[in-house]
Parts: sequence; C-alpha cells; structure tokens
Amino acid sequence: MLIARARQPSTLFVLLNACIVTALIHYWTSGRSLHAVSVWIGQNLEHEHGHDYPQNPPPSQFAGPASCGGGGANDTMCAVYGEDILARSRAYEGANARFRRVLRDAKAGKHIKIGVLGGSVTNGQGVKQHEIWANVFAEWWKQEFPDGEMTIQNGAIAATGTNYMSMCYLEHIDDDADIVLTEFAINDQRYDFNAESFEWLLRQLLELPKRPAVINIQTFGLAYQQLTTGGDLHIAAANYYDTPLISLRNALLPQLLDTREAGPNYFHRLGSGGTDFNHINPRGHQMLADLLIAYTQRQLCALSSSPLPPDAAPSYDDLPLDLEGIPPLRLFQNYNDPPALHLSPYCTSTRTLKHPLIPSFNSGWENWTYTAPGGTEKSYVRATQPGSKIGFKIPVRGGMGRVRLSYLRSATFGLGICKCWLDEDEEAGVLVDGFWDKPLNVALVVIITKTASVGDHVLSCELMDKTHDPEGRTEFRLIAVDAA
Ligand SMILES: *[C@@H]1O[C@H](CO)[C@@H](O)[C@H](O)[C@H]1NC(C)=O
Ligand SMILES: *[C@@H]1O[C@H](CO)[C@@H](O)[C@H](O)[C@H]1NC(C)=O
Repeated sequence: MLIARARQPSTLFVLLNACIVTALIHYWTSGRSLHAVSVWIGQNLEHEHGHDYPQNPPPSQFAGPASCGGGGANDTMCAVYGEDILARSRAYEGANARFRRVLRDAKAGKHIKIGVLGGSVTNGQGVKQHEIWANVFAEWWKQEFPDGEMTIQNGAIAATGTNYMSMCYLEHIDDDADIVLTEFAINDQRYDFNAESFEWLLRQLLELPKRPAVINIQTFGLAYQQLTTGGDLHIAAANYYDTPLISLRNALLPQLLDTREAGPNYFHRLGSGGTDFNHINPRGHQMLADLLIAYTQRQLCALSSSPLPPDAAPSYDDLPLDLEGIPPLRLFQNYNDPPALHLSPYCTSTRTLKHPLIPSFNSGWENWTYTAPGGTEKSYVRATQPGSKIGFKIPVRGGMGRVRLSYLRSATFGLGICKCWLDEDEEAGVLVDGFWDKPLNVALVVIITKTASVGDHVLSCELMDKTHDPEGRTEFRLIAVDAA
C-alpha cells in the first residue's frame, strides 16, 4: 500500500464568497489571531499525546473480524462504542450500491484507490500523519484486504470549502478514485451557496470514470458561532445522491454537552495550554476513523449475506431503479428544468502543481512567495505598481458560464484594487478590492462573469492606482482562476 500525499500545499486556503466572513475563517498570516476565536494557531505545534485521558488501546487495532450480529463478542467497534452510538453516527446510510461494489472488488484483490477531500482536520492540523482519520482507516483497510493494493491520496487543504473544491477538486485528487471521502461539514458555512457547491462537488465525483463510491465524513467544532454548520445543509444532498454520511457530532456531541469537562479530551491542545475546539485531536481522529470502519464492516456484513450484485434491483410498481445512478436534476433546480449540465471545470492555481497559474501575457506581475513567521509558505502572483497588467487563457467548457478569481484580502498587507474583465469587455470589468477593515487575511473568490460562452477566453486584470489602503499602498495578490 502506498500512502501518497497529494500535491497540496499545507497552507491556509479559505475561499469564500466575498460577503461572508465569520468565525469559521482561519487566519492567513503568521498564525497570531486577532480575533477572539482562535481557529488557527500555526501548524507546527505538536499535540500532547494521550496525557490527559485514560488511553484505551486504539480500537481499530483490535484483532479479529467484526461479527455481523451487531454487538456480538467479535464486534469490536460495538464493544468499544456501543450499538447506539454507532447507529447515531450513521446520519445517512442508504443503499450503498457503489460502496458494496468497491468492497466486492477489494475482497477480490483488486487495486482500490481512495481519494480524500477536506479541510484542515483531514490535512492533519494538530495531529501526526499516521493519526489522521483517513490514514487510520487506510491502515485498517490494509489489514482487512491484505490481498489487494490500496492507494490513498489525501487532497485536503486547510480552511478550504466546497466553494473552491467543487471547481478545483481534480487539482487535489486524481480522477481514477474508487472511493472518495469528503470532509467539509465545518469548512462550509451554513449558506445556500455552499450547499449548492457541495452538491456540484457530489455530482462531479459521482460522475468520475470509475463511478466511485462517495462517503461523507463529518467532523465538528465547538468554537464556531453556532453548532450548526454547512454540513447540516450537506445532509440533504447526501440523501438525494444516496451517498452515506457519517457524523462525529451525532456520535459524540450529546455526551460532551452532558459532561462539559470531557470536551477538551477530543480536541487539539494548544501549546499555550488552551484547547483548539475546531480541530479534533488523535482521540477524535481515532473515533472518526472507527465510525467509518464500523460503517464499512456493516457493509461487509451485508455483503456476506448477499455476496453477488443483484441482476436487477427489484423495484416498486415496475419503476426502473438505477441504484448507482445520478439524479438528472440538481436539488437547486425546478422539476421542469432541463437536466443539470455536466461540468468540466477549469482550475488553475498557485496552490497546485497540476495546473499552476501561468499568465498568457504579463507586464509588472511576478511569482512571489510569502513566508509566514512560522515558516509556512504561500505562493501568489503579485503586482505592486499601478498599471501592471496580466492575462490568463480561460477555457470555459460549459455548464455555468462562470469565471472566478481567487485573491487575498487583508487589512494590513497594503492591498489595493484590481480591475478584471473577460476578453475585450473592459467596460464590464469588476473592481476587486484586496483591502478591507476586517482583522483577517483571507482568500476570497469573486465572480468576474456568469455569462461567458463556451470556448476560449482571456481574463485580464489591471492594477488600479486607486486604493483603500490607509497608507496608499497598491499591492495585489492573485491565487487562482476557475471557470465552468
Ligand atoms: C470470535 O472470533 C473468534 C476468533 O476469530 C472465533 O473463534 C469465534 O468463533 C468468534 N465468535 C463469534 C461469536 O463470532
Ligand atoms: C511564474 O513562473 C512560471 C514558471 O517559471 C512562468 O511560466 C510564469 O510566467 C511566471 N509568472 C509570472 C507572473 O511571472
């Protein structure tokens, strides 16, 4: 087995619509938070390992197969967590047609590729690589299916939600996954545009060449403004697309509310002695992995009672039933709308090696890397002199007619204003302001147009001499361009 880290940088990468900034937002800079909610404190802190809670042996390293009786002596997950908590964790179970197909393949010794998309939890904020829930799951998988190769590709990026990932996921995992695990419950804030982008992501993942099984994993955090997050809107899409959803919040939060002093046992302990309540610690990761393992065992048990795929799924009232199918309409469409288009998004970014952000013309812009005091590096395409112009070739492949730009906003970096437009339509140029007065340095996405025709376009940007920076500075930092 190979554990391949995808080419993602371990960097903060918040991409939100410009109007939305609340406590979810992770700080872009040095790691010193200027805000009461400390969601980011630098990524090099080592967690304290198992000091402050009695350390059970990691359940997923128990030997022996799970029994299929539910709670039998060999049902190790059941013995550790109890049937009730495991039941609660299955926020959506569904038919599992795709997952069982992949499990059949794994039992037959086929090479299985697992792609993982998510945010800082899955990227390993505050835990060691082997403690990340996806890697704990991968280790279990390796033991469960010793005859077949398995490759896991972790494409999670800190502080990244589906607004970005729905257009750029293929920059972070390959398109030949058999299983895709998603972790976006806390990085998507609870807004419809995030529910919509989560749905677009699901559709596209389900459409990938190997028709992968998508399984949604939800972690939770306790330092956000509300307990409810974007993940709660994801549940509807998980239902509609029949993609399982496993929730750590369901399994754990009620107990943590009853026993308040237990909370810190599951979250990352900061060097300062405080608790980072948005990043689960190794114990939390272990539990998340175990819930996924228990879920997988449950599907294996179902397979052992009916090992072969049914010739044709039985259906009610002779209505044909395609259990692996993808509904033609998006949830955000009307019943009478034409089928949702197949997207093939274009994404180019300073944060990926697959399709780096390379200009088609350039005067005055440069590749530039910011090194935070902690040593973390973030790359940009940057300009400082008004009048600097840059252009990017943008193939719009259809579906949305939308071209977007990701850029940095900050109150302190001396950022100015850039005007961006498509092709010759400078009149319709969008003014994109890098400055704001919020104490956050954060990447945002702005829509340049929603009416681009299918075909090749050029996105042009010019740095303005006007600026809102109190010191009159005019720097601008570009991060990514996407189109669909
Ligand atoms: C539990 O596992 C052991 C060892 O694999 C086996 O001998 C025993 O029959 C199993 N018991 C049940 C109830 O499945
Ligand atoms: C950044 O580097 C790449 C690779 O060397 C180059 O093709 C590109 O033009 C550079 N971008 C800028 C803005 O200079």
